[in-house]
Amino acid sequence: MENNWRRRGGAGLGMRMRIERLDLADTETIRACFELFLAAQRVDEPDGPWFTERPFRGWLSAGWGGDPREIWLAEGQTQGSVAGWYRLELPDLENLDQAELTLVVHPAQRRRGIGRALLKHATARAAEHGRSMLNSPARHGGDGEAFARSTGAEPGLVDVQRVMDVRTAEAGRLERLREAAGPKAAGYSLVSWTGLVPEEFIEHAAALYAALNDAPHDPQTAPAIWDARRVRERVNDLRPAYGLRTYSVAARHEATAELAALSEIAVDPADPGWGHQMLTGVTRKHRGHRLGLLVKIAMLELLRGTEPQLERIYTWNAESNRYMIAVNEALGYTVQGRPASWWKLDVAAALGEQALASRARS
Ligand SMILES: CC(C)(COP(=O)(O)OP(=O)(O)OC[C@H]1O[C@@H](n2cnc3c(N)ncnc32)[C@H](O)[C@@H]1OP(=O)(O)O)[C@@H](O)C(=O)NCCC(=O)NCCS
Repeated sequence: MENNWRRRGGAGLGMRMRIERLDLADTETIRACFELFLAAQRVDEPDGPWFTERPFRGWLSAGWGGDPREIWLAEGQTQGSVAGWYRLELPDLENLDQAELTLVVHPAQRRRGIGRALLKHATARAAEHGRSMLNSPARHGGDGEAFARSTGAEPGLVDVQRVMDVRTAEAGRLERLREAAGPKAAGYSLVSWTGLVPEEFIEHAAALYAALNDAPHDPQTAPAIWDARRVRERVNDLRPAYGLRTYSVAARHEATAELAALSEIAVDPADPGWGHQMLTGVTRKHRGHRLGLLVKIAMLELLRGTEPQLERIYTWNAESNRYMIAVNEALGYTVQGRPASWWKLDVAAALGEQALASRARS
């Protein structure tokens, strides 16, 4: 599918430009998309961390959860350059009516209608795939929020980013937290591994990933159904694509040998000062034993030995996730930047409005 639009304003007035599908074998164009994203992140996410090229490629080619996806780009003014692009992720296991959109325009090319044209294209693609809702996050107060409001999207769940500076973390404080938690966690021990989820823990890991379904989420989002096969195919098989070093710490219930809690952190060798918090989850029947706190403290100790250059860890939580936030604040995490809302665009309504707008313009 290809789409032409008339560029508004400036030197490009009246010039036709193309939206083309990214060929995932085209490493040069992927690099151009990466450079564009980096330029945008420097403006939109000034505190970092920013993508580096290898995980960026992995995110395009494999995705974090293996859902099918397509990437379309708007050509820049010079041949082979990219002015903006979008990545449309199309969940294929549940939430078949939804799509997740990442849409980005180079900071030097904004307010020229490129974002609107890409969104129109993405909306049509989403409809072709039978999706009725587009979801996309944007920080409060930034270009993304202004853009989302202009499209008629509705704000949904609000997420807040927090960062912990591990260089200044007070060892005594962590020790006191661990001691205070100890009596509640009698009967549990810790296990850890690096890289892929070991086969012996695959079944347990499925239950731990499913624990994330209990975190606050938009009411339209259906829970992810996890089993051993999904952990093998949608976690282990994908991880090599990102080139990250991943660490996992779990709490095991000694009486049953069940894994009760899990925390995972990834470190990008190309930017090893940052730790990326992935899942932290405790299965329902093991909650209330301070296991979330204890696996995170054990993770900090593990990383002190394996990643001595680590400076900071960041995490995102729904603003209403008070238990996880209480754990993070006890550890010394503080808020970074403004919150982000998940904007929800009704595909049918947006297509109707776009048709009306283009009729009015012609
Ligand atoms: C959001 C983004 C894609 C918009 O791209 P763009 O090419 O500048 O968007 P457009 O020029 O098509 O803008 C369409 C309308 O959005 C609104 N808008 C966009 N940016 C705005 C801003 N900074 N302030 C106020 N309104 C803004 C305006 O109503 C604009 O129409 P107008 O220029 O006729 O007034 C771009 O700013 C970006 O890449 N941001 C970072 C990533 C992001 O947040 N993505 C969107 C998540 S929902």
